Amino acid sequence: MSYAEIEWNNGIPRSALFNDVYFSESGGAAETEYVFLQQNDLPQRWADLDRFVVAETGFGFGLNFVITANAWLQSSRQGACLHFISIERYPVSPEDIDRLAEQFPELRGLFDALIKQYPPPLPGMHLLEFAEGRIKLYLVFDEIHSALQQITHEVDAWYLDGFAPARNEAMWSQDVFSLIARHSKTGASFATYTASGQVRRGLVQAGFVVQKTAGHGNKRDMLKGQIFEKRSFKTSEPWYLWRPCETAHRQVVVVGAGLAGLSVAWALARRGWHVTVIDKHDSVAAEASGNPAGLLMPRLSQLDDTDSRFYSNAYVYAVNALEKLQNNSDKLFWHQSGSVLLTSADKTSKLSQQYSNINEFVSFQTKQKLSAITGVAVNRDGFEFTQAGWINTQQLCECLAEACGDALTLVSTNVESISRTDDGWKICLDNKEDIQSNFVVFANAASCRSFSQLEWLPIESVRGQLSYVPATDKSHVLKCGISAERYITPEQDGIHVVGASYSAANDSTELDLADHQHNIETLHQVLPGIIDTSVDIRGRVAFRAISKDRVPVVGAVPDRTAFLRDYDDLQHGRISKSYPAATCLPGLFISSGHGSRGLTTCLLSGEMIAAMIAAEPVPVEKQVMDYLNPARFIIRQLKRKRV
Ligand SMILES: Cc1cc2nc3c(=O)[nH]c(=O)nc-3n(C[C@H](O)[C@H](O)[C@H](O)COP(=O)(O)OP(=O)(O)OC[C@H]3O[C@@H](n4cnc5c(N)ncnc54)[C@H](O)[C@@H]3O)c2cc1C
Ligand SMILES: C[S@@+](CC[C@H](N)C(=O)[O-])C[C@H]1O[C@@H](n2cnc3c(N)ncnc32)[C@H](O)[C@@H]1O
Repeated sequence: MSYAEIEWNNGIPRSALFNDVYFSESGGAAETEYVFLQQNDLPQRWADLDRFVVAETGFGFGLNFVITANAWLQSSRQGACLHFISIERYPVSPEDIDRLAEQFPELRGLFDALIKQYPPPLPGMHLLEFAEGRIKLYLVFDEIHSALQQITHEVDAWYLDGFAPARNEAMWSQDVFSLIARHSKTGASFATYTASGQVRRGLVQAGFVVQKTAGHGNKRDMLKGQIFEKRSFKTSEPWYLWRPCETAHRQVVVVGAGLAGLSVAWALARRGWHVTVIDKHDSVAAEASGNPAGLLMPRLSQLDDTDSRFYSNAYVYAVNALEKLQNNSDKLFWHQSGSVLLTSADKTSKLSQQYSNINEFVSFQTKQKLSAITGVAVNRDGFEFTQAGWINTQQLCECLAEACGDALTLVSTNVESISRTDDGWKICLDNKEDIQSNFVVFANAASCRSFSQLEWLPIESVRGQLSYVPATDKSHVLKCGISAERYITPEQDGIHVVGASYSAANDSTELDLADHQHNIETLHQVLPGIIDTSVDIRGRVAFRAISKDRVPVVGAVPDRTAFLRDYDDLQHGRISKSYPAATCLPGLFISSGHGSRGLTTCLLSGEMIAAMIAAEPVPVEKQVMDYLNPARFIIRQLKRKRV
């Protein structure tokens, strides 16, 4: 994906690809106000609501978004949230957005906030937040048809803004209209500047009642309409269907005060929910999340697949979230010094093709360049992530707990079991009174398997040992983290953190000399001579939670018994649409299996779980939600019939 080529003419941007203008000469802002806000009856329709969902086809410069966000800030009620989904296949560069923003001094603040968080041109859904979370932008960089298949949101108002239909058929196809109808709430509206007969007929065929009305400026007509009768749609994989339910009890229990649990807590606290986080230790981040330094880095993939979408979207979200958290904290935990990744020559060559032209995200560099970037002699070519960095995970967790403020209660005890009662879930604690809650989130790494509801989940603990290595004359100049088979972070108080060993069949919590030597020797192969290989053993042992497919496990907890009953004959290949929708254990969620990339994945996963619990739009594509869904293991087994 690369940025759109824009031609500027008297302040009006034109797309070189479509040979069409982004805004008419009669005035972009006035046209947006008239066509999209007024004709969707906004802001009147949202005045009394806690939540309103707008979706747009064609984000372009974000002018419609910024004008809508501005109207929302002036007219919505306190505590209400605008969810704005916008789809864009040819992202406009932040430089071009900045150039347009100069024409709108009254909207400068919102444009600046947009540019600051603007994602690199990476496919997938990017979540951006404005005005302390009062506005959420779900920016989907993808082709319209696939993007509409990936949203799970129910929309109140549509802005159809995809260049003239005659110049861009893809944005106005019957399939696109059907998907728009499918994602609409009953009573949802649309507005578009075009009065094309083909668009009118297409929207009518999709189920909308369409009306022609006076256009803006020198345009005679435009279209608007509403959908009142929604057709029923069958989903192709009903076992992954997610149906949120609203609740009046805004209170959740989270098991585990590591990065996964505190990310969920922070996401819920920001929504005004109360969260009780229970951990068997007396302090937060006492296990895997207690490391003094780890690298924030996405997992690169040789394909634009679901895995790379999840990791790159989560990484971009984490970078923005960390900046916000760091700005509000006295502790320095986020060191945005960039990071370097060294892979084998073959992999480097394949990856550099996949990620060419996305230098804002990752760029290929020769070993000479990398030596200059890092400050130390590197003996392989590799990749530089300029927005990445290293994190003191323990302090990040403390900061997340502080950021929750009064919304968080921390309880130190072991959670023994949970069981269903008429009033929700009874949480049985060691040496403390039981707690009752409608919602429970398991964020207790591989220990989630000790609960009967999750004992089937294929997650295991994998031991990892960090080595603390004294800085040398050659190493203390290291400017950023370097990751190869082992990683090293810049020195803090004269010590580098080198990590980490990986041993599944070892549950020892003692430091191991062989692991220590292996850490140091492996690092020595890519960074020869920068650290002293004969130093004494010092370090830390912790355990990662690794799922069978090495992908995090995030979502609602399936009711395994119901799954085995409802999907028993899956291996015979019956048409999947004829199966019933998924049954989940009501109010139970999980965020675990973050493996060796939890710094990248926990924050977005926390936001996902919070959105599911609060019955809000989920900030990842459907394919990502399904990819992380805990039920995937049951479905795979049923398809192979090895249960
Ligand atoms: C050695 C090592 C190096 C790593 N380096 C990196 C890195 O560089 N970059 C990166 O992105 N990731 C790295 N990771 C991974 C990262 O640290 C984890 O993915 C992340 O911290 C996971 O957090 P968590 O909250 O899921 O688990 P944890 O931090 O382990 O938290 C789980 C919590 O649940 C609690 N708990 C368990 N059972 C119960 C119960 N029954 N009742 C109450 N409490 C319970 C535990 O006490 C624990 O505090 C590394 C991991 C290790 C081990
Ligand atoms: C008229 S402009 C939108 C202007 C925008 N709403 C704004 O406020 O700045 C139309 C947009 O649709 C995008 N677009 C065109 N074809 C597309 C497709 N097939 N899928 C997704 N986006 C597409 C274009 O790149 C362009 O940014």
